[in-house]
Amino acid sequence: MTEIIRDKAALRARVTAWKRAGEVIGVVPTMGALHEGHLSLAQAARAGADRVIVTIFVNPRQFNNPSDLENYPRTEHQDAEKLAPFGVDVIYVPGPSEIYPDGFATSVHVEGLTEILCGAFRPGHFDGVTTVVPKLFLQTGADKAWFGEKDYQQLQVVRRMAADLDIPVEVIGCPTVREPDGLALSSRNLLLPADARAKAPALGHVMQGMAEALAQGGTMAELVAPAEAALAGAGFDKVEYLELRAADGLALLDRLDRPARLLAAAWIGGVRLIDNIAVG
Ligand code: PAF
Repeated sequence: MTEIIRDKAALRARVTAWKRAGEVIGVVPTMGALHEGHLSLAQAARAGADRVIVTIFVNPRQFNNPSDLENYPRTEHQDAEKLAPFGVDVIYVPGPSEIYPDGFATSVHVEGLTEILCGAFRPGHFDGVTTVVPKLFLQTGADKAWFGEKDYQQLQVVRRMAADLDIPVEVIGCPTVREPDGLALSSRNLLLPADARAKAPALGHVMQGMAEALAQGGTMAELVAPAEAALAGAGFDKVEYLELRAADGLALLDRLDRPARLLAAAWIGGVRLIDNIAVG
């Protein structure tokens, strides 16, 4: 089984030795409850770095809802078992005081990109992400970091933060992994009641239909209302956003005039799902 390190001093000692040997260090930051999407990141990291660290830390600062934090699945033992075949060098599972010691008073905020999409509905969420991620980069000494495109906005925000803070980490995005029925893999899928789980793939299917219509010249002004009606008909309780945005920089678009992403967040069975697909 892969070695688990829980304190940053021990991790630092290990990483310092690797760096002295000139090895490239790759990190896959996660909050655990690992699924095939995370494992695809571990696999990509294994191929792209000499040493691979997977971090597991359920970051309280990025949960704007206390019950969401409480219900977040914690499955460390199974996570370690799942990672075993991937040749990961270390699983770093810091306790809260390794990340937020007493007196911790710093918060990193990325302007603009964090005020739209998920940022508009989850106040403080991205500040939590952009505060913990640089700490994980620094504690692991990462040269490269792998993130899933499933959290497309997060990927853009983390890239901006690393560039703005001159953190010398190459941030690499990997494609979303889906269930055979099209549902994007997410740790939150574990929380879906069975009937909601059966209906949830409608989100990706409706978005796929919109993407095809956009590619043929359709506009968001004409496509959003029917798509929301289709999602309501399929059992979704609420659509938070359904937007077309520039793939680079996330400017709001009405039609496909450059490489774009269709992004959505919607609630079903008491669970908030997000998805996004490339358009054009
Ligand atoms: O995507 C996640 O799991 C988290 O937002 C991350 C990047 C591990 C930061 O806590």
